[in-house]
Amino acid sequence: MQATKREADLPRARELIAQARRVVALTGAGISAESGVPTFRDAGGLWRNYRPEELATIGAFERDPRTVWEWYEWRRGFLATCNPNDGHRALARFFLGRGEDGIVTQNVDGLHTRAAIEEAGDAPPDAALPIEIHGAIARDRCNECGLRAEAEPLAVRDDGARRTGGGEPPPGDPLPRCAECGGLRRPDVVLFGEMLDSALLERAQTMAARADLCLVIGTSAVVYPAAGIPLATLHGGGRIIEVNPQATDLTRAAEVALRGAAGEVLPELLA
Ligand code: APR
Repeated sequence: MQATKREADLPRARELIAQARRVVALTGAGISAESGVPTFRDAGGLWRNYRPEELATIGAFERDPRTVWEWYEWRRGFLATCNPNDGHRALARFFLGRGEDGIVTQNVDGLHTRAAIEEAGDAPPDAALPIEIHGAIARDRCNECGLRAEAEPLAVRDDGARRTGGGEPPPGDPLPRCAECGGLRRPDVVLFGEMLDSALLERAQTMAARADLCLVIGTSAVVYPAAGIPLATLHGGGRIIEVNPQATDLTRAAEVALRGAAGEVLPELLA
C-alpha cells in the first residue's frame, strides 16, 4: 500500500523539485540507517541501548571523560565499517548538479562528505558537502580552547599500531590532550546540554529561509534547533517534502510525504 501511495506522490514531488529555484535538505539518522548506522529513536536505535545522560552530555564528559571517550571510540570504530548508501549518493549528485544551496545534516557520521567526494570525481565536491550542525565524530576538539584536530585514537598499542577504534583501551591510558593548551580533547560533536556552533546554525537557517523547497530526510524532527530549519523554509513561503518510512511532527507541514527508505526513494526522486 505504501509503495502505491508513494508512486502517486512521486510525480508531485518531482514537479516541486523541477520548479524549485533554491533547494535545501535537512537530514537525520534515518538517511544513514541503510548504511548500517543505528538511528537514535527507532526500535533498536542507539539510545535504546544506552542512556544519553550517561554518554552524550557535557556533564557526563566532565564527570567521567573516559566512559564518554570509550563510547565514542567504539562508535568511531563501528562507523569505519559503514559506507555511504544510495540515498547519500543521490543527494550528493543532486547538489553537485546545482552548485548552490545544499545539505544540512544532524548526523556526525561523515557519510555525506564521503558520498560527495566519491560522486564529485575531479570536480570540487563543495556544493554537496554538508553543513554538519551537530559536528563530526571523526574530528577532535579541545574542550578548553576549542582547537580542532584530526581524531587521535585513545591509545597507541605498544607495537605502535594505531588503534582503529573499538575495544577497551588498556586501563590508565592517557586521554587525548590539546597540542596547544594541554586541555582535554573530546570528539568534535555537540553533546546534550551544549549550544550548536552559532555560525554553522546561522548559515543553515539563512540557506533554509531563502530556499523554496526543503527536503526533510530521515529525521524524527524532535530535536531543536535542527527541527526548526524546515520551518524557516515554510515561513519564507517555501514548501517541504518529507522522506521517511514513518510520519513525524513535520508530516502535517509537508506538501508531499514520501513514505519509504531514503536509499530507495531519493534515487527515484532526484534522478
Ligand atoms: N530512510 C529514511 N528515514 C528513516 C529510515 C530510512 N531508511 N530508517 C529510519 N528512518 C527515520 C525514522 O522513521 C525516524 O523518523 O529516521 C528517523 C530517525 O530519527 P532519530 O533516530 O530521532 O534521529 P534524528 O532525527 O537524526 O535525531 C536528531 O537527536 O539524539 C540527537 O544528536 C542526535 O542528531 C541526533 C538528533
